[in-house]
Amino acid sequence: MPPAKKALVAGRLHRRLRRTLGMDGFGTYCTYLHDWLPAELTHLIDAITTNKTDFFREAAHFEVLTHHVVPALMAEGIGVQRPLRVWSAGCSSGPEPYTLAMVLSDYAARHPMAFHITGTDVCTEVLETARAGIYPEAMVDPIPLPLRKRYLLRSRDPGAALVRIAPEVRDAVTFRPLNFMDSVYDLPERQDVIFCRNVIIYFDHERQQRVLERLCRTLHPGGFLFMGHAETLTDFTLPLHPVAPMVYRKT
Ligand SMILES: C[S@@+](CC[C@H](N)C(=O)[O-])C[C@H]1O[C@@H](n2cnc3c(N)ncnc32)[C@H](O)[C@@H]1O
Repeated sequence: MPPAKKALVAGRLHRRLRRTLGMDGFGTYCTYLHDWLPAELTHLIDAITTNKTDFFREAAHFEVLTHHVVPALMAEGIGVQRPLRVWSAGCSSGPEPYTLAMVLSDYAARHPMAFHITGTDVCTEVLETARAGIYPEAMVDPIPLPLRKRYLLRSRDPGAALVRIAPEVRDAVTFRPLNFMDSVYDLPERQDVIFCRNVIIYFDHERQQRVLERLCRTLHPGGFLFMGHAETLTDFTLPLHPVAPMVYRKT
């Protein structure tokens, strides 16, 4: 993280330090980290990551996916001769990969094809929520009504105001931990489409370049990379060319 994020990190850690660990300041916490890093690391990461996400966030991207990207890949036999592989990189609590799964299931009902989605995040807490696939009703408002009817299950307890993602959508997504700071990304296969939106915005420029290079290595030639709307790639040297706003294709 760049130095400008110092106040943000301090604010996030304050609660863990004072309330949970009962410490008097960051000096004590640094000594504690020195002795207990493996045990504390998960809590540290959970406290400092920003996990804001939504279903159908930056919705135009899902139109680009079904109108341009999937047809272009299917024309090359991807999704037909073998499953289309999509990676939601920095998936938070799951709305992005589940949106992808709903949109692609809906597409596949009209144009038969096979696909699989992998969702990864460094934060274990959000991955647990993602695997459970249970969300407050208010959170699913952005999902178009026909998809809500088809792919969401209402809680049996009407007072609970919760919905669950239907098994056919949950089964299309695998969640696993992955830290973008790792030198190699541990995914079983190269991907055809990567959504890495609203994640690298938190890294400094040098790390952004390294992460983007690794994402490109994980992408098949001709594969597509979707970035968040605040994340222009013009300052980086990468084997990508723009095809739509914040959508790039590997050359
Ligand atoms: C703001 S959320 C974006 C979620 C989703 N992509 C979206 O656009 O709605 C950013 C996610 O990136 C994850 N993240 C931050 N640093 C990471 C790292 N070094 N490796 C993997 N994930 C990271 C955070 O845990 C968080 O869940």
